[in-house]
Amino acid sequence: LDELLADGVEGRHVLVRSDLNVPLDGTTVTDDGRIKASLPVLKKLADAGARVVVMAHLGRPKGQVDPQFSLASVASRLSELADFPVTTAEDTVGSDAQAKASSQQNGEVLVLENVRFDPRETSKDDSERGAFADELVAVVGGDAAYVDDAFGAVHRKHTSVYDIATRLPAFMGDLVKTEVDVLSKLIENPERPFVVVMGGSKVSDKLAVIDNLIGKADALLIGGGMGYTFTAAQGYNVGKSLLEKDQIDTVKEYLERGKAEGTEFVLATDVVWASAFAADADHEVRPVESLEDGKIGAEGLGLDIGPETQKTFARYIAEARTVFWNGPVGVFEMEAFAQGTKTVAQALADTEAMTVVGGGDSASAVRNLGFDDDQFGHISTGGGASLEYIEGKDLPGLDVLGA
Ligand code: 3PG
Repeated sequence: LDELLADGVEGRHVLVRSDLNVPLDGTTVTDDGRIKASLPVLKKLADAGARVVVMAHLGRPKGQVDPQFSLASVASRLSELADFPVTTAEDTVGSDAQAKASSQQNGEVLVLENVRFDPRETSKDDSERGAFADELVAVVGGDAAYVDDAFGAVHRKHTSVYDIATRLPAFMGDLVKTEVDVLSKLIENPERPFVVVMGGSKVSDKLAVIDNLIGKADALLIGGGMGYTFTAAQGYNVGKSLLEKDQIDTVKEYLERGKAEGTEFVLATDVVWASAFAADADHEVRPVESLEDGKIGAEGLGLDIGPETQKTFARYIAEARTVFWNGPVGVFEMEAFAQGTKTVAQALADTEAMTVVGGGDSASAVRNLGFDDDQFGHISTGGGASLEYIEGKDLPGLDVLGA
C-alpha cells in the first residue's frame, strides 16, 4: 500500500476490497470488529485524497438482491466510526454505482452494494467472473488501482478478491499484510513453547489444521464439541455429545503421530455433563472415564470442559511463549457452559506471551464475554481464511498479489 501512496493517489479512484462480513441482528451490527479493522486503510487513502470505492460481501445471498444481506446498515456503522465522508450505492455495478463513482469527491469513500448480489462474483466459470470484473473496472475507470484489504476473503477465488487484481494495478492492504506477518510467524518461527487451543463444534473442519500443526506445535489443547471425538478415540463413552464416528480413526492416527513428532495432545479429563442442549439444563461435572455413570447418565452430553481441564489448559497457556486459539471450548453462549471458554480467554489475557485469536467464533466469543481486543496480541479477522492459511493451503487472493 505504501508503494501506491508514494505514487500519489489524489483524485485517483482506488477500488478497495474490504471484509465487512459482520454479524447482524436485524439492522444492528452485533460485532463491528471487522469494520474497525477495515478503517485504517480507508482512512489512509481518503487522507491522501483518493476517491475510494469499497467492495465487500455480506453473508451468502444466492446470487441475487436480497434485502436482509444489504450492506446499507454495515456502511452506516462504518460511517459512524469513520472520520471521513462515507456514501453508499444502491447497487454494485449499476447506474447508481456508476453515477456516484463518477461524481465522487477526493477523500470520499463510496461503499458499493453486496458483491454477492451478482451471481458472477462467486462463479466457478473464469469468464463469468471476468465479465463481472470488467464491469467493476468500468465503475472506477481503467486508471484506478486495486487494494485487497479483505484478509477474511483471501481464500475465495471470487471476482472482487481474485479476477479484479488481474485487471488493475494491485496492492496488498495493511490489514492483509499484518495478518500474513502474524500467521506466518506463528507457523514458521514461533517462540517456544508454542501452544494451540482448538475448539468449536466440528472436528472434520479442523482436521487439516491439526494435521499441519503436528510437529510444529509443542502442545495441542483440544476442547469444544470436537473434543468428544477425541474422548471417544480414547475409548470412552460420550453419551449424546457431538461425535463424528467416521473421524475416530483419523483422530487415533493423529494421537499416534503427535507422540512420534513431539506434539503433546492435551485432552479433557473432565466435562460439564448436561441433561440437554439448553441454558437451564441440569448438569454435573464428570470425569471422562465415566461420563455416563452419574445422575444424568447416558442421555447426557458434554457442553464444556470441566474445572480440572480448565486448570490444566490455563497452566499450559501460562507456560507458553506463543499461543494460538481457535474455537470456543464450550457452549459459551450459555452461562452454565461458558466457564471453560472464559478461563481460556482469561489465561490468554493474563500471559505476556504472543497470543493470536483467530478463526470462526473465537473473536466474537472473546468480545461477547467482555474481553477487549487489546488484551490479546492479535485477533485475526479471518475465519476460514486464517484456518486455511494455517493449513498451509495456497490462497487465491494472496497468490494473485504475488504474496
Ligand atoms: C468470513 O466470514 O469468514 C469471510 O468473510 C468469508 O465469508 P464466506 O465464508 O462466506 O466466504
